[in-house]
Amino acid sequence: MISNVDKIEDLRNKIRYHNYRYYVLDDPEISDAEYDRLLRKLESLEKSHPELITPYSPTQRVGAEPLKEFTQVTHSVPMLSLSNAMSESEMRDFDERVRKFLKTADEIEYVVEPKLDGLAIELIYENGTFILGATRGDGVIGEDVTQNLKTIKSLPLVLIPQGQLPVPHRIEVRGEIIIGTKEFEELNRKRAESGEHLFANPRNAAAGSVRQLDQRITAQRPLDIYCYGIGVVEGITFSTQWEMLQGLKSLGLRVNPYIKQCKTIDETISACLGIESIRETLPYEIDGAVIKVNSFSLQSQLGTISKSPRWAIAFKFIPHQETTVIKDIQVQVGRTGALTPVAILESVKVGGVTVSHATLHNQDEIDRKDIRTGDTVIVQRAGDVIPQVVKVITSKRTGKERKFVMPSCCPVCGSEVLRSRDEAVYRCTGLQCPAKLKESIKHFASKRAMNIDGLGDKLVDQIVEKKLVKNVSNLYYVPHHKWRELERMADKSARNIVDAIEKSKKAGLERLLFALGIRHVGEHIAKVLVDSLKTVDVIKTASKEKLIGINEIGPEVAESIIQFFRQETNWSVLEKLKAVGVSFNPKEFTEGNKFAGKTFVFTGSLKEFTRDEAEKIVESLGGKSSSSVSSKTDFVVAGEEPGSKLDKAKNLGITIINETKFKNMI
Ligand code: IVH
Repeated sequence: MISNVDKIEDLRNKIRYHNYRYYVLDDPEISDAEYDRLLRKLESLEKSHPELITPYSPTQRVGAEPLKEFTQVTHSVPMLSLSNAMSESEMRDFDERVRKFLKTADEIEYVVEPKLDGLAIELIYENGTFILGATRGDGVIGEDVTQNLKTIKSLPLVLIPQGQLPVPHRIEVRGEIIIGTKEFEELNRKRAESGEHLFANPRNAAAGSVRQLDQRITAQRPLDIYCYGIGVVEGITFSTQWEMLQGLKSLGLRVNPYIKQCKTIDETISACLGIESIRETLPYEIDGAVIKVNSFSLQSQLGTISKSPRWAIAFKFIPHQETTVIKDIQVQVGRTGALTPVAILESVKVGGVTVSHATLHNQDEIDRKDIRTGDTVIVQRAGDVIPQVVKVITSKRTGKERKFVMPSCCPVCGSEVLRSRDEAVYRCTGLQCPAKLKESIKHFASKRAMNIDGLGDKLVDQIVEKKLVKNVSNLYYVPHHKWRELERMADKSARNIVDAIEKSKKAGLERLLFALGIRHVGEHIAKVLVDSLKTVDVIKTASKEKLIGINEIGPEVAESIIQFFRQETNWSVLEKLKAVGVSFNPKEFTEGNKFAGKTFVFTGSLKEFTRDEAEKIVESLGGKSSSSVSSKTDFVVAGEEPGSKLDKAKNLGITIINETKFKNMI
C-alpha cells in the first residue's frame, strides 16, 4: 500500500511539474480545473495529516503572521545597476568600448533581453529549496522579503530540474518582480473604488506589494517574476549568459521568452529594435532592452566601473509621455452608476498613438494631483494601459484654470449622486438611468461576453433612447422591423443584427454570467463559478459560505453575487432569457463554439498543420480565418519564417501566438 507520505510527495511533485509547464514553459498539459483538483486533493490530505506539512509544500504559499519589520540581508555579490544607451550610435559606442578594453577587433557575442520595469530581487535556493528572497536595496544590502515572494505562484518553492543539469548545492538567482499592465489597471480600479491611493505605475505597484509587512496583502497582488542573472553558484558552472539563462529555465525558473543570442553588434541592435517593436504587444511594461556580453570569462575581464558592469548596457526606449492641455473635465456614468471624471485633452501623439482622453479615476485622485481644467499636464500611456495624467506642470498656470467639483446630479438622468461611506466613488442613484442601461447593454453584447456582432454603441444608444429595451433580456424580443426603423439601418443590417442576437443564445453560461455585469464577476470569476457550481440554479441560491469555500472567491465577490441574485428584477431577467432560449449550459456544451467571433490570421509555416487544416480547425470551432491582418484580427498565429503579416500585427498591437499556444487553444 502507498503510504500517505508518498501520496503527498507524489501530489506535490505533480503540482510543481504542472506549475513549471504553466509558468515557465507557457505550455500547460492539464486544464485549470484538473490542476485545482490536484491542489485540493493535496490540501485535504495535508488537513488530515498536518504533521506532514512542510514550508515548501505548494499549499504553504500564504499563512505566515505579519512582520514587524524586514530584516536586512547582505548580498554575497553586489547587485549592480546598468548604464544607459539612448540611441543606436550609443549602442555601437558601447561595443567599441568593449572591444577596446578587450583589445580585440573580433565581433563580440551578446545576449539581448527585455528590460523589465519592475523591482530587482534575489532568490536563494539551497539544495533545491527556496530559503531566502531579498530586495536589491542599495545593491549591497537589501531586505528579507522571503515570505512575500513565496506568494508568487510563478516562483518555484522547490527547483525541479527538467534537463541534464543537477540541482546545485546553492544558487543565488536574480530577477525582476513585475505586475502586468492589465492587472495593474484592475488593481488601481479597485483601489479607486475603495478610496485607496492609486499606484503611479506597475513598477510602484510591484515594489509596494513586495515590500508589504503583511503577506496576505502581497498574496492578493498579481505579481510575476522573470529571472535573468545569478550571484554565487555552488555545484554547477555556466560559461555564458545564454547557457545560464537556459540552465535557470531547466531548473524550473521563469525566464523571459524574448531573450536572444546575437553573433554581431548589428544583430544585437536589430534584436533591441525588435524588442522595441513588440513593446506594445507585451502584457507587461518594459522600458528598454539589456545587452550583455555573452561569455562569462569576457565579463570578468571587463569587470565593473562605479556600480555598473562594463559588460552590459541598457538600451532605453523613448518613454511614452507627452505634454498637453486639459480642455475640459467631463463625467461619464458607467454600468454600475459610478461617475468617472475624464480629462478631455488637446489631442497629442503618445508613443505613436493619438490620445485625446485620460481617466482621472475619482475626485480624491484629482484633488491629490490638483488637476484643473486648463492645466498643462504630462500624460502617459504604457502597453494598453488607459492614458493617465502623471502630473500638472504648475509653472504653466495662468490663473484661469478651473477646479473640478463632482456634480451633485447625474449628468445623464439628473438623479441624485451619492458617495457611500466606504467608497471613493460617487454613484448615480437613478434606477432607470439610461447611461447605466446603455453601458450594461454594451457590456452584455461585447465580444468577450455574448459577442453580438454589429450591436455597436450608436445602435445601443438608439434602442435605449427609443425605449425598445429596458433590460438586457429585451434584446431578444426586438423584432426585425423595429431594428429596421432605426437610423441608418438597411434591411440587411437589421437582419444581421437579429441573426447575431439569435446566435448569441449559444454563448454558454460562463459568458452569460460575465455578460450580466455582476460587480466583481469578470471572465475569470465567471469561469470559476461555472467550474465549481455548474448550474445557474446552484449559483443563484448559493450561500456566502458556499461561495467563499470556492478557491479564488473572497468575501467581497461573494457578497456582490448574493446581492445581485437577491434582487427579484434580476431573477426575472434570467427567466426571460431562459424563456427565449438563451443557453444556460456550462462551457463544455458550447465548446464547439469557443472561437465564436474570433478572427485568426496565419503567417509562416506550422509544424503540425497545413494552412488548410489550421483554418478548418478554426472554422469548426466557430471562428473565422482571414488572409490579411487588420484591426479586426484577434490572433495572428506565427509559424516558422513568418512574413510581413507579423510586422503588421505588431504595429496594430494584435495578439501574436505561436503554434504551441494555438494548439493549447484548440
Ligand atoms: S541585469 C548587470 N537584466 O534594470 C546587472 N537587469 O538598471 C544589472 N532589469 O536593477 C541587472 N530587466 O531591476 C538586468 N534583463 C535584465 C533586466 C534588468 C530589468 C532592471 C533591474 C536592475 C536595473 C538595472
